[in-house]
Amino acid sequence: MHRVLSGIQPTGIPTLGNYLGAIRNWVALQDSHECLYCVVDLHAITSFQDPAQLRAMSLEMVATLLACGIDPEKSVLFAQSAVSAHARLAWIFNCVARLGWLNRMTQFKDKAGKDREAASAGLYVYPNLMAADIHTYHATRVPVGDDQRQHLELANDIAEKFNHDYGVDFFPRIEPLILPEAARVMSLRDGSRKMSKSDPSDQSRINLTDDAETIALKVRRAKTDPEKLPSETEGLAGRSEARNLVDIYAALAGIDAASVLRAHGGRGFGPFKEALAEVLVTRLAPIARETRRLVADEGYLLGVLRQGAARANALAEPIVKEAERLVGFLS
Ligand code: AMP
Ligand code: TRP
Repeated sequence: MHRVLSGIQPTGIPTLGNYLGAIRNWVALQDSHECLYCVVDLHAITSFQDPAQLRAMSLEMVATLLACGIDPEKSVLFAQSAVSAHARLAWIFNCVARLGWLNRMTQFKDKAGKDREAASAGLYVYPNLMAADIHTYHATRVPVGDDQRQHLELANDIAEKFNHDYGVDFFPRIEPLILPEAARVMSLRDGSRKMSKSDPSDQSRINLTDDAETIALKVRRAKTDPEKLPSETEGLAGRSEARNLVDIYAALAGIDAASVLRAHGGRGFGPFKEALAEVLVTRLAPIARETRRLVADEGYLLGVLRQGAARANALAEPIVKEAERLVGFLS
């Protein structure tokens, strides 16, 4: 059976993009796979986080994941910093990965922006830590959104070079699990940028904690074009905002884009946006309600994390110990 691992940064309220691109797949995989899901607080501090805020956001992220349907009995749910094996293996991977490989990472270029010299060293080696998150457990399947594809290719390059350099067949190849629909949910304000919890404009995204009224307002204000909605998918070519709304509807309703257009095409965006807001509210309101309930129970959340960390440590420790032995460390 394949072992599944994925992570999410506690740097804001999770968005519809996180949900459709990753979290709903995490939930679905629990019944057929051994799953590990971590809140990646080590990754979060690659850009400065206020400590009290980081703690609160980490707990809220755990609450949201539980509210979305992650079952802490089925899956191992934990904070990355509670399992020191990640950081130990990441150091080894820092010494395996080549600067040339890291220089090609588009996420670093995006996040560092123009002033690259001012970015933290941690942001630069971020993909090595992500590779360590996965290989620490010999996980082979990684459910993510499309934006993480390049990082997962790097994780395979690192594993291959480690195996080659040390003359072993120790780290397995990994495969991304990327859902075909809504793998890249775009901003509601700009169809060329991905929906992100760190976008300065709250209007650009649906947060999983937004109430019905906020959702309806954001959808109504979502950028579209003056044309009618087409009746066939070919008509979406070059219309990124329209395509994004149709894809979101399709993913939430569990149908394909063609079926959405058969039902809603040929009309203006007004009625379609109302229908979209309705599916969003139906799906997200229970998640928001349950998140609010769980956030109020910090003792429970900390208990879930404690149990998750114990299970994760038990799985990680022998694998990372063996990696350290292969490298030649005295144990
Ligand atoms: P992050 O919020 O960057 O920690 O991402 C957590 C997970 O959500 C990753 O698997 C991302 O690929 C996925 N994700 C984030 N934003 C989007 C988006 N706009 N569309 C699809 N997937 C996304
Ligand atoms: N880098 C991922 C993101 O920003 C989060 C992440 C960290 C991750 N470690 C991981 C995803 C391991 C999958 C597996 O979206």
